[in-house]
Amino acid sequence: MSAQRIPLAGVIGSPIGHSKSPKLHGHWLKKYGLPGFYIPMEVAPDNLETVLRTLPKAGFVGANITVPHKEAALEIADLVTDRATLIGAANTLIFREDGKIHADNTDGYGFIENLRQGAPEWNPKAGPAVVLGAGGAARAILASLLNAGVPEILLSNRTRLRAEALQQEFGTRIRVVDWVQAGNALEDAALVVNTTSLGMTGKPELRIPLDGLQKQAVVTDIVYSPLKTRLLQVAEEVGCHTVDGLGMLIYQAVPGFERWFGQRPEVDEDVRKVILE
Ligand code: ATR
Repeated sequence: MSAQRIPLAGVIGSPIGHSKSPKLHGHWLKKYGLPGFYIPMEVAPDNLETVLRTLPKAGFVGANITVPHKEAALEIADLVTDRATLIGAANTLIFREDGKIHADNTDGYGFIENLRQGAPEWNPKAGPAVVLGAGGAARAILASLLNAGVPEILLSNRTRLRAEALQQEFGTRIRVVDWVQAGNALEDAALVVNTTSLGMTGKPELRIPLDGLQKQAVVTDIVYSPLKTRLLQVAEEVGCHTVDGLGMLIYQAVPGFERWFGQRPEVDEDVRKVILE
């Protein structure tokens, strides 16, 4: 008699203690009464490939990948989705039955889905987006905004060279704006996105001048601790529609959960509360 297999998944990073993913997936497993486990795994860079090749044999159906392994995981994977290739990093792996590792990146999806649900009136084609920051998070967000049909992206980063490198890579719909001029760019924005860690608890505040913000702009932040960053507070005072960053974290987890555990999870107030606890 063969015992039924219980699907296992988890998140791999270093450090891993801060990851919200176990709480998130654990909540959904319980909510839907599904068999399965989701486990945090602290893995050093030197061991990543061995671990990724071993997990499928141990009953794992997939894994989320977080800092510092997102680029290395993409290299190790046997198959890669177009969006993961474009972003240059993987955050979701599927261990296929034929032994192949399939890499995806759902960060851009999580960003756009959060925005679409949080600000249904936002029309990607309505006007330019101002994107602050040019790190790993910005790559996924740029790719998703371009894919959504945003006509122009004004990209501003403290280190201008990093923004220019992204402009070279992602193309002509991106215009680089000097960090000291970022405040001026806000005047034309239909969408404003902070992709930097500025404004997060324990980090410096985002200090660009915000008086250029127009009330028709939708304003969002990837920072979710605090939920209401200074950027979002000021934007609310101006009368802008704001969307906090917590939903991006939740929505990026949806495709993986559905694939591994066979149920599309709902994003509701309960799951937001669970993460904030
Ligand atoms: P992630 O992968 O999470 O995006 P990252 O690659 O380290 O992290 O990028 C962090 C972003 O926050 C960058 O755009 C970074 O600007 P630089 O490219 O100039 O480093 C931005 N950032 C971090 N601290 C900053 C600060 N004190 N002032 C302005 N920008 C800052």
